Amino acid sequence: MISKNFTTVLSLWAFLSFAFVTGQEVTIIPTGNDLINISYVLGQLEGQPAVYFEIRAETRGYIGFGFSNQTCMTNSDAMVTWMDWVTFELVVQDWTFYTTGTPYERELDQQQDWRVESLVWNEDGVSTTLSFVRLYNTGDPVDIIIEDKTMNLIFSVGEWPALHHHPIGRSGNILFNLIQGTK
Ligand SMILES: *[C@@H]1O[C@H](CO)[C@@H](O)[C@H](O)[C@H]1NC(C)=O
Ligand SMILES: *[C@@H]1O[C@H](CO)[C@@H](O)[C@H](O)[C@H]1NC(C)=O
Repeated sequence: MISKNFTTVLSLWAFLSFAFVTGQEVTIIPTGNDLINISYVLGQLEGQPAVYFEIRAETRGYIGFGFSNQTCMTNSDAMVTWMDWVTFELVVQDWTFYTTGTPYERELDQQQDWRVESLVWNEDGVSTTLSFVRLYNTGDPVDIIIEDKTMNLIFSVGEWPALHHHPIGRSGNILFNLIQGTK
């Protein structure tokens, strides 16, 4: 647990100082929901344009986030991540979802492209802060490229184990242009 707290401090520092050094603003994405807050900074990862995201959500279960070609999970490129309650291992999965509803038609991507920097169970006892990076263009043909246009950002938060249900109000689609920081 000590090392996890240490990671929190480091990653928060990294996130904020990154914004400071690059002069990039931290943009808050309106989720329409106080249970999930999403912010990000534009930057670079290994010389390629990338988005540094931070999600703070009221869950100790899973957090899902991604981009969709539609306004839901159908034809989406999304990451699902959680900390295993038994082993305390971080699980990060990059999926292509072909349908919505249960059971999902989905495929685990051969190339895993969401880089989770840290997942921390916050000291309030109920929430989790997740920091991760995604390249604009992963080079994986099944992925969605981050472009200067309004995109469908999808999110979902639920209990562990993951993907068994999405409680109402804890998942959604946000129309947002990440490059411009506007709707
Ligand atoms: C999200 O932000 C709002 C407004 O600052 C705050 O009231 C709420 O507690 C935050 N939610 C989480 C899960 O941190
Ligand atoms: C979304 O659309 C792009 C462009 O047509 C395509 O390359 C990509 O495979 C699609 N992704 C999914 C998950 O449907």
